[in-house]
Amino acid sequence: MIKYFPFTEKFDLKMGTSALSADQPFIECDVEYATEVLLKRKLLEEDHKYYFRANQNTDEAQWEVVEKVLTTLAAYYPELFKLEQKGNQWHWENQHLKEQQAFTFGDSTTLPLQPLDWVGRQIQEDLIILNKESILVAGQLCFPSGWSLEEKLNRHFLEIHAPLPPLLNPMIQTAGNFIERIPVTKTFIRNNWGFRIGNALDLSSKHTLLYRALLDGVGFQLTHDTVGNAVYLRVEHQTLSRLPVSGYILFTIHTYQSLLAEEAKNKDRMRILSSFLKTIPTELLDYKLMTPFAATLMGYIEQQQ
Ligand code: HEM
Repeated sequence: MIKYFPFTEKFDLKMGTSALSADQPFIECDVEYATEVLLKRKLLEEDHKYYFRANQNTDEAQWEVVEKVLTTLAAYYPELFKLEQKGNQWHWENQHLKEQQAFTFGDSTTLPLQPLDWVGRQIQEDLIILNKESILVAGQLCFPSGWSLEEKLNRHFLEIHAPLPPLLNPMIQTAGNFIERIPVTKTFIRNNWGFRIGNALDLSSKHTLLYRALLDGVGFQLTHDTVGNAVYLRVEHQTLSRLPVSGYILFTIHTYQSLLAEEAKNKDRMRILSSFLKTIPTELLDYKLMTPFAATLMGYIEQQQ
């Protein structure tokens, strides 16, 4: 079963943000840790500039992300990660992957990669940094749903969301104001959802044509008997926090996936989902690339309750 199930009986146009509780880490490690981190590293080796970008003058914020991620991992997963800090001399131990790294905090020459690129390879999350004007200035993004850094780097939050259907405009305007006011003391979460054929984690824009071909080929042919084992529920667990020194925003995305047939074992979830899907505007189904299999999906879910 998927960890986050962000559905209610009726679709609404709210942002869906809430505060992260103190006992919850903003970075999460699960059973997919090694597989996903190694996949990330492979993608970064193959096409580095596509998956990692950082503007000049983002070093301070990148180091703030290193600190926030490493201290969180060591505090919440002490059996997997250890962090020793003696002044600026830090020693990191990733027991999960049997790796170590010593470095001088704040001195990028002591790490093998840029700080954000290095720390992103320790976790399953994608990491995005926005400056104080809400412009995307750096990111390591391996598992996005239909976008890429090359399209969004140096773009404002509102411009980044321009491809969304107009009915979401008011929500995005509100979110833009919300982001400007995030305090240093609070982290916010939201869960974005989608349904996709297959479980490829990397759905970057460069794969969109291929995915659309799959959708046109397979999507329309799915039946009640095949949809459960072809379609995955994809939930992006996102967090938003303000970095204390630079004042920049850190946006993290942890992508969780679960086979529809697996979710269907939970009758209560199916009842909620069935009711929710009936209330989604068609332009949103289109944007989420669900139209070719939406009717089959809804019919299947209806019968699982
Ligand atoms: C409260 C904060 C936010 C809200 C309410 C929000 C809302 C949304 C919504 C509703 C979508 C459509 C996704 C879908 O239906 O599958 C979306 C897509 C997207 N969001 Fe956000 N978002 C937020 C923060 C961010 C941040 C901080 C970024 C940073 C870059 C971001 C980048 C994107 C991108 C790149 C897309 C895909 C756009 C495209 O189709 O090209 N979002 N967002």
